Amino acid sequence: MMGQYRHHVFVCTSGKTCPLDGGLEVHAVLKKRAAAAGLKGQVRVNHAGCMNQCGHGPMVVVYPDDVWYAGVDEVGAERIVEEHLLNGNIVQEYLYIAPPGDNKIKTAEDSD
Ligand code: FES
Repeated sequence: MMGQYRHHVFVCTSGKTCPLDGGLEVHAVLKKRAAAAGLKGQVRVNHAGCMNQCGHGPMVVVYPDDVWYAGVDEVGAERIVEEHLLNGNIVQEYLYIAPPGDNKIKTAEDSD
């Protein structure tokens, strides 16, 4: 079965930590670069809420590949477009390796 887009990219831009770490800028770079690469209509870049990986961000997820990226900066965003979205290669330097499920880094704000 085919979905609407070849790739659907989610960027955490409204959780507690990713926006402070540059999530919004990363979202903007991904969107701009994907459009410049001619991927409009094939790749959709969306804002996402918290992915429960706070403290590892900015977090970026590429579906349907189910590839998670952590600590993505502007260079990382450019590489994700060039290497992953255009050429199908995972950008190993930003690949998120973590146990399944929630992986929040506890902060002083956390009361639970
Ligand atoms: S704030 Fe981005 S994963 Fe929680």
